[in-house]
Amino acid sequence: MNYEMAQETASFIKSRFDEQLRIALVLGSGLGGFADRIQQVTKIPYEEIPHFARSTVQGHAGFLVIGRVENVPVIVQQGRFHYYEGYEISQVVFPIRVFGLLGIKSLILTNAAGSIRTSNRRGTLLLIRDHINLMGVNPLRGVNDERFGPRFPDMTEVYCRDYQNIASEEAEKIAQERFQKGIDKEFRRILRRGVYCALSGPTYETPAEVRMLRLLGADAVGMSTVPEAMVAHQMGMKVLAISCLTNMAAGIDEGFIRHEEVMETGAQVAEIFEQLLRRVILRIKEFENY
Ligand code: HPA
Repeated sequence: MNYEMAQETASFIKSRFDEQLRIALVLGSGLGGFADRIQQVTKIPYEEIPHFARSTVQGHAGFLVIGRVENVPVIVQQGRFHYYEGYEISQVVFPIRVFGLLGIKSLILTNAAGSIRTSNRRGTLLLIRDHINLMGVNPLRGVNDERFGPRFPDMTEVYCRDYQNIASEEAEKIAQERFQKGIDKEFRRILRRGVYCALSGPTYETPAEVRMLRLLGADAVGMSTVPEAMVAHQMGMKVLAISCLTNMAAGIDEGFIRHEEVMETGAQVAEIFEQLLRRVILRIKEFENY
């Protein structure tokens, strides 16, 4: 997957929508519904997109949706490519390369993740402030094309502080409103900040692995997001990443982890999550002055 291929794909997308796209979103497991509730302009199946792989996992659609949210032109990856599906890591991050070449400066990544902290219950949203990459791969390995970005990118601030603050503020307002309207009987924070650790999957972790991750300083564990965030950061995009904590990680609570539980929690949180995304998009629009 090289620069020319990403350019071809970017030209293809431009041929379908020639306004400047502002924000790209990647929707994780159980969270794909957001793309169906935006003002859609076009929805392109991955099969029709040059050089795109296809999504194979249950609960992940495979479309690029172009549309508007709060009048901001956005492109949404409805269904991501996971490394555990057997793709090359360059295929996993290819859409991000394309978003970068489309001139998009803001990327919002979402995912489902297991919670490593008992204080962050199932259904909480976790604003990723940093990550640990234990996937066993780095998407920037290989010959570096300087047109994408530097050979040795700094990773001190992968996740944009300003965007984190925007997301926290908006989440706080949503929580206040829910409490005032009586939707939540007790005041409940809906967003926490934390560190996300990526493993390759597709197995969930063992309890011993989860204890190790806790010692390493992780708050959540999942199987995605980190490669995309690294590539976007290398390209100079601002990244906001939010996990939906769909289950307690293995051994944190009693009981086993089921993919169905992961999907169910995603669906339960969808309303708050979508509300947050809309508000964040509006705030990013103001912040970036478009
Ligand atoms: N572990 C890894 N990935 C996940 C989990 C988990 O517990 N839940 C959702 N994605």
